[in-house]
Amino acid sequence: MDRKEHWQGVFTTKGERDVSWFEALPAMSLQMMESAGLGPDTCVLDVGGGDSRLVDILAARGLDCLAVLDVSGAALHRAQERLGDLAGAFTWIESDVTAAWSSKPMDIWHDRAVFHFLTTVTDRAQYRAHLLQTVKPGGAVIIATFALDGPERCSGLPVARYSAETLAEELGSEFRLIEAVRHEHQTPRGAMQPFVYARFRRERSPAPILDGKDAAAPAVFAPRGSLPAPSRTTPWFRRTCRAAARQSWHWRPPSRFDRGCRPR
Ligand SMILES: C[S@@+](CC[C@H](N)C(=O)[O-])C[C@H]1O[C@@H](n2cnc3c(N)ncnc32)[C@H](O)[C@@H]1O
Repeated sequence: MDRKEHWQGVFTTKGERDVSWFEALPAMSLQMMESAGLGPDTCVLDVGGGDSRLVDILAARGLDCLAVLDVSGAALHRAQERLGDLAGAFTWIESDVTAAWSSKPMDIWHDRAVFHFLTTVTDRAQYRAHLLQTVKPGGAVIIATFALDGPERCSGLPVARYSAETLAEELGSEFRLIEAVRHEHQTPRGAMQPFVYARFRRERSPAPILDGKDAAAPAVFAPRGSLPAPSRTTPWFRRTCRAAARQSWHWRPPSRFDRGCRPR
């Protein structure tokens, strides 16, 4: 399957609202960006941005360091046409995310519904290499994919489905999971698609490997405010955290622990 051909076909034959992923307001993405400290000086890269309206909204908020990458030139062209003169202020990268491309260092890497199309280990490794090259230390990575109970295909292509934990495993220890949210996207035709949105922070230095005695301070996920104060060393604590991560929905590292969740 030629990816470029596939996506060019989509964006030259279908209207904005004919595609299942259309959303008039990318509210979840914006919410996560705000949590990541979005401001007028923030540099944002929308990976596989297609003709999403995210760039319009960020521009309206006064951001001028914006880049959109997509394998389909037709998709980028549609977004550019919509933006008019404003489009010239931004960077447009027509490339497969897994191919050779580069951009200036970014504060926020945003990807809604692209990573899940990367169904081979090689493609995901390339994606991760670009993450490491592009995201500033301390910067944010926001990835939205179909959840474990989400559709098995999108736009006629097979997808991989994720939980926040399995996404974190894919990204590796340089990226710390900060929060994750389950979101049920309603397609223009009224179908419901479960997504997981996960926000990571790029570590400023390599994360320590927890083993032996160090594991006494585990970093785990937990639903907000729902955990009693446990002994951090117990199997119960680890089981509780694993269960919490499975249920998800909206959890963050609880504030009384000084460490975020690290699902390793
Ligand atoms: C499901 S759409 C999502 C579009 C946009 N992120 C949104 O939320 O509206 C997937 C987008 O990713 C692009 N895409 C798919 N695979 C890609 C790849 N390997 N590299 C770059 N872009 C890709 C497609 O052209 C399309 O615009």
